[in-house]
Amino acid sequence: MARSPHDLVATYPLAPTVVGSSPAMEHAVSVATRVAASNVKVLITGESGVGKDVFARLIHSQSARCFQPFVALNCAGIAETLLESELFGHVKGSFTGAYRDKIGSFEQAHKGTIFLDEIGDMSLRMQALLLRFLETGELRRVGSDSPSTRVDVRIVSATNRDLRAMVNKGQFRDDLLYRIDVTRIEVPPLRERSQDVPALIQHLMAKCGGVLTFSDAAMRLLESYRWPGNVRELQNVIEQLVSLVSGRPVEPSDLPRNIVASHRDFKHVMQDRRRSIAADLYDGLTSGGMRFWDDVHPLFISRDITRADLRQLIRRGLAMSGGSYRGVIELFGMEQDDYKRLLNFLAAHDCRVESREFKPAVRAADSSSTLPHKHAVAG
Ligand SMILES: Nc1ncnc2c1ncn2[C@@H]1O[C@H](COP(=O)(O)OP(=O)(O)OP(=O)(O)O)[C@@H](O)[C@H]1O
Ligand SMILES: [Mg+2]
Repeated sequence: MARSPHDLVATYPLAPTVVGSSPAMEHAVSVATRVAASNVKVLITGESGVGKDVFARLIHSQSARCFQPFVALNCAGIAETLLESELFGHVKGSFTGAYRDKIGSFEQAHKGTIFLDEIGDMSLRMQALLLRFLETGELRRVGSDSPSTRVDVRIVSATNRDLRAMVNKGQFRDDLLYRIDVTRIEVPPLRERSQDVPALIQHLMAKCGGVLTFSDAAMRLLESYRWPGNVRELQNVIEQLVSLVSGRPVEPSDLPRNIVASHRDFKHVMQDRRRSIAADLYDGLTSGGMRFWDDVHPLFISRDITRADLRQLIRRGLAMSGGSYRGVIELFGMEQDDYKRLLNFLAAHDCRVESREFKPAVRAADSSSTLPHKHAVAG
């Protein structure tokens, strides 16, 4: 019998490796393991490349059906008539090219599991045919007048679409969703489990037979990247690196440009955030509503604001006081006796900001314009 490129038939006595120790992944794996034992229908959701296939195989391999076939059929990108024949089979002569009877994926999966991937891409007509099968358990091959047989299959479906939203738009049948979505497994995107990145890298390296080490900076970039293509994108990056780098650690310059660039964007976001925290603190202090030692200092000690936030606040003060720490003290409503205390506190936490660049003389040398005398208080 000719096999379709869309099908995949295999028995899985061994469970696939699902890497991930983040709470979200552990939860998803524990749900999968729990439902595997029963015949209950499972809908796996998650963005592209998160590992929905891996979960479908995990469920099959941990079920009593593990020595029976696992048949995967991708419902996307396949013409409706072909999909119907793939799923239900056809009888000889039912359409041009149907030279002999062909059994469909449901019959191939008899006693095992069928994995309907990208089920959100099924046309409404196909949804109706699938629903009829789910309701009656009877298979009708394309071109046949009567149901041919009954099969015993466990149905696992997957989609990266929001099927509920599709139902609301009339694109997906409510009654079909109700049937296939008995248990839901939501596979979280990789950016929500960045702690899994190092272990996934180890696993993916072993899979492609490569050995890599990473500099701290490169690993930090990989962990902080948002991975829109999820584990599949990480897999592609690792495969590329294995062929490019050997005998030395992977450095940031070896990584794809978009990973490095997005980190720069992230740094800008952080800088903006810092600026806005510093601006709020600065306004609070200069409007008199806040006091440095009573309000800002405790925020810093309890780590509600970071050293970078504090430095940014001091920088604002220095910019306003023309580079004078005594001016900052006045501006932030402290006593002049606090001069030493402030400088010691900042030095102890590595938050001392060099005041020279804020002094008028430097600016004058830069621009040879008139001196801003107003805040030129000696520091
Ligand atoms: N938790 C994981 N542990 C190990 N490998 C994983 C994991 N998640 C995904 N992978 C690997 O990443 C690749 C992509 O995973 P998979 O094909 O299951 O994603 P998907 O969600 O089905 O993607 P799509 O939506 O594009 O169909 C595969 O090679 C898979 O083996
Ligand atoms: Mg998939």
